[in-house]
Amino acid sequence: MDHASPMSSRFPAPRTTLIGAAQQRPCTLVVCRGCCCGDPRKHPGTDHVWQLERLRAAAAESGFQVRTTDCLGPCDQANVIVVQPSAAGRRAGGRATWVGFAMDDDCTEEVIGWAAAGGPGIAQPPVTLELQFIQPPRDARVRSRR
Ligand code: FES
Repeated sequence: MDHASPMSSRFPAPRTTLIGAAQQRPCTLVVCRGCCCGDPRKHPGTDHVWQLERLRAAAAESGFQVRTTDCLGPCDQANVIVVQPSAAGRRAGGRATWVGFAMDDDCTEEVIGWAAAGGPGIAQPPVTLELQFIQPPRDARVRSRR
């Protein structure tokens, strides 16, 4: 029995325990491909197909994951990509980070670089990418489509 602190035995510290595959979960990019993000009619001048292919190719090389999702909510800030922390990143305090206006090649490469370096909780994001961080909608729930 631990006698160091009488409070510790009565009020154990809350713990989060990840089991199974969740313990190894890598950084994951959730790429919105809903009604506005990725739509060349609404956002011409961006090669949305290339962007998704580039993200997937980089994920295969670097060990992070890419998923697509239906509309996440902030369509006026399309394209939206959510950078979810790995299990290790979450344990280190990293939280899901929403990137808006992810249209150009530079932004795509910065997201890739950050995810490849470990993502939230593990690596610092590029300063220029931080300028594109947006607030998630209040009821944000990331739903995987693929
Ligand atoms: S389609 Fe991406 S936020 Fe709505």
